[in-house]
Amino acid sequence: MRESVTKKMKVEQAGVDSSPQSHGMNAVDPQLLRKTMGCFATGVSVVTTKYQDQLAGMTVNSLTSVSLRPPLILVCLARDARTTRAVESRGWFVANILHEEQMALSNRFAQPAEDHFADLNFALNEYDLPVLHGCIAHLTCRVETALLSGDHIIVIGQVCQSEFTPGPPLLFLRGAYSKVQPRGMLDVPEAAWYW
Ligand SMILES: Cc1cc2nc3c(=O)[nH]c(=O)nc-3n(C[C@H](O)[C@H](O)[C@H](O)COP(=O)(O)O)c2cc1C
Repeated sequence: MRESVTKKMKVEQAGVDSSPQSHGMNAVDPQLLRKTMGCFATGVSVVTTKYQDQLAGMTVNSLTSVSLRPPLILVCLARDARTTRAVESRGWFVANILHEEQMALSNRFAQPAEDHFADLNFALNEYDLPVLHGCIAHLTCRVETALLSGDHIIVIGQVCQSEFTPGPPLLFLRGAYSKVQPRGMLDVPEAAWYW
């Protein structure tokens, strides 16, 4: 097994005191913030890992690209989630990006269960990490940085393997699943470098 596969994730503190009160601001109600951020449509992915023969996985919609050179992505994982601890211990994870028909898979990995992987179609890849079948994309990542921020840990992963198929993604918007309705090509030539 590669040497870095066993490297443990070191969580850094993002700020000394980042509470709104310390800056003379009022705290925004968490439910209001959840609903407001729910206006920002995202895809849905399941972060999976394997640590000491134990498989772990959780549904996330916080997946974001960070950098192309070097290739970095990030996910924000709840501090108290079991999968967060497993990712922390292993130092590696896979982001499995869900197909629009995988709502049941999203629900499965969004609630506590004894064995999320029972009767599931998956395989272990060359990094000994679980890759879910039927997804439209997979990103295998080594944890590069982990920042403790509020009640989540921002996990930045260096992408070691990246693959995709043309299928339609599952979307999440205003607290519900949704589907893509293509509206045409981007008409901003100078922004083409971003794509
Ligand atoms: C659509 C959707 C998106 C989610 N996104 C996140 C996320 O980005 N980060 C997170 O910590 N939890 C997220 N959750 C909640 C976790 O999936 C859920 O708390 C999970 O049970 C925690 O994993 P655990 O079983 O390993 O503790 C999301 C749930 C859903 C349904």
